[in-house]
Amino acid sequence: MNNFVVAIDGPAGSGKSSVSKEVAKRLGFTHIDTGAMYRAVTLYALRLGIDLDDENAYSFINDLSIIYKEGKTFLNGEDVSKEIRSQEVTNHASQPARINAVRDRMVYFQRESLKIGKVIMDGRDIGTVVAPNADLKVFLTASAEVRAERRCKENELKGIESNYDVILKEIIERDRKDSTRKIAPLKQANDAILVDTTNLSIEEVINKIIDLINERLGK
Ligand code: DC
Repeated sequence: MNNFVVAIDGPAGSGKSSVSKEVAKRLGFTHIDTGAMYRAVTLYALRLGIDLDDENAYSFINDLSIIYKEGKTFLNGEDVSKEIRSQEVTNHASQPARINAVRDRMVYFQRESLKIGKVIMDGRDIGTVVAPNADLKVFLTASAEVRAERRCKENELKGIESNYDVILKEIIERDRKDSTRKIAPLKQANDAILVDTTNLSIEEVINKIIDLINERLGK
């Protein structure tokens, strides 16, 4: 097997990235976190100080280099992996994600990386737009409350202070923005397998996805 693409989509906090990263590690796949790419554009736009909702302000997009490699995100060669996780970038990330030119450029980068071989890519539109022919599509969900709890715990571990009610509100707002935008909204592909992680541990989700991959591989 030279080429095998797994598309993992789902809302913020559904565990897509951590699950995809671990599945990739265990099976020897390359993991690509496409949210990190949208975050890198957001960081660049915030640094420039442009109006994030003005689609004419993104003329820089075709000269921008964004590379996601081995868990790190590079923006024009600079490692921005930490900065893209800041609260400011998180709060603004859904704005550039609504711009046509931004999505076209990201989809181009993402399709290029699918050529690597065995890839597990996570995002919002992987099964619907980026890789409609993926070998396996999974749509991960969890209740907004559980996702907010997980985000609080993650922050606690990182020593970041957080407020459950504020985080819950932000998650609900981001879900609304991501699923109601005109282009490539967050949506389950018709042929994606729905996995509700509300009552599952991360280990259970990882094992479920590994089972699904092995099933498709005929193992
Ligand atoms: O998954 P995340 O929180 O890192 O994503 C950051 C933002 O990028 C989020 O607002 C949704 C957007 N995004 C997207 O529109 N399409 C993707 N394939 C991945 C992320």
